[in-house]
Amino acid sequence: VRAAAVDMAVRVGSVDIANPVMTASGTAGHGDELSGYVDLAALGAVVVKSLGAGAEEGNPPLRVCDTAAGMLNSVGLAGPGVEAWLERDLPPLVRAGARVVASIWGRRVEDFGKAAAMLAGASDSIMAVEVNVSCPNIEDRDRMFAHSRSATADAVAASGASGLPLWAKLSPNTADLCEVAAAAHRAGAEAVTLVNTVLGMAIDVETRRPRLGGAGGGLSGPAIHPVAVRAVYDCRQALPGVALVGVGGVSRGVDAVELMMAGASAVQVGTATFADPRAPARVLDELTNWCRHHGVGRVSELIGAAHG
Ligand SMILES: Cc1cc2nc3c(=O)[nH]c(=O)nc-3n(C[C@H](O)[C@H](O)[C@H](O)COP(=O)(O)O)c2cc1C
Repeated sequence: VRAAAVDMAVRVGSVDIANPVMTASGTAGHGDELSGYVDLAALGAVVVKSLGAGAEEGNPPLRVCDTAAGMLNSVGLAGPGVEAWLERDLPPLVRAGARVVASIWGRRVEDFGKAAAMLAGASDSIMAVEVNVSCPNIEDRDRMFAHSRSATADAVAASGASGLPLWAKLSPNTADLCEVAAAAHRAGAEAVTLVNTVLGMAIDVETRRPRLGGAGGGLSGPAIHPVAVRAVYDCRQALPGVALVGVGGVSRGVDAVELMMAGASAVQVGTATFADPRAPARVLDELTNWCRHHGVGRVSELIGAAHG
C-alpha cells in the first residue's frame, strides 16, 4: 500500500513556500555552497548569511569553538556586501533553483535602509528579506537593535526600502522578546524569526583567556533548542496573528515538529549543518515521515498545536 502523500506547503506571512524547512542565516554560506550535498531547490528556502551594505571583514580568530551541547561563534558579520553578492553569489543560487531569503544587517539604522534599497527589484528569486537586528547598534552604545523596541522598529522600517516581505530576526537575550516582536510587526515585519544565538563565552583555563577572538560569542545548537521553543511559544501566545519562523537546535525532524507545535510556520536548520551538511534535507525528510506516520495530512496542521 502506498502511504498517502503529505501536503508540506506552508505560508509565512504573505509568502507561500513548498515546505517549512530552510537553512539558517550564516550557516549555509552566502551562495550555493551547500549544493554539493543538498538539492537547494527542494528546501523551503535558502536563507543566506547576513549582508551589509558594503563588504566586511568580520571578527578575529578563533571564530568558532565547540561546547558541551552546541557551539559558540563570534564570526561577526563578515561578507561581500549586497552589491557583490548580487553579482557573484546570487546567480548560482538562482541556477540551483533555490528560493532565496536575503538577510541584511547594519551598524546604524541607515545601513539597513541602504542594504534594503540595493535589493529592491534585484531578482524574482528573492522572496523575502530577513532583517537581522541581533547586531550591535553603534548609535546606541553598541546595544543590540533587538534589545530595544524602538531601534528594532526603526531598522525594520528602514528595510522597507527593499519592497519585499520583511521578517525580523530577533535575539532571545531580552526580557521583552514579545514586545520587541510586536514592535517589529508594527514597523512592517510580516514575520518574526526566533531565535538568534544566546550570548555565551568559553575560557581556556590553561591560557586564562577567552577561547574566541571576539571574547564573547553566540551559543547555538541543541543547547538552545528549548530556548527557541519557549520564544516561539510565548510570541505565538502574545501575537497570534504574526507568522513565526523557528530556529535553534533543529537537528532532527522531531525538533522541527516541536517548533511548529509551539507556533512556527516554518523552521531553519543552522548548527546541525556543520556536523552534517545534508542536515536541512534530512530534517525535511524526517519531518515528512513523521507526518506520514502520525496521520498528519498537511504539515500546516501542526502550527500552534501545543496551544490547546
Ligand atoms: C557560525 C554562525 C554564523 C551565524 N551567522 C548569522 C548571521 O550572519 N545572521 C543571522 O541572522 N544569524 C546568524 N547565525 C545564527 C543562526 O542563523 C541561528 O539563528 C542560530 O545559530 C540558532 O540556530 P541553530 O541552533 O540551528 O544554529 C549564525 C550562527 C552560527 C553558528
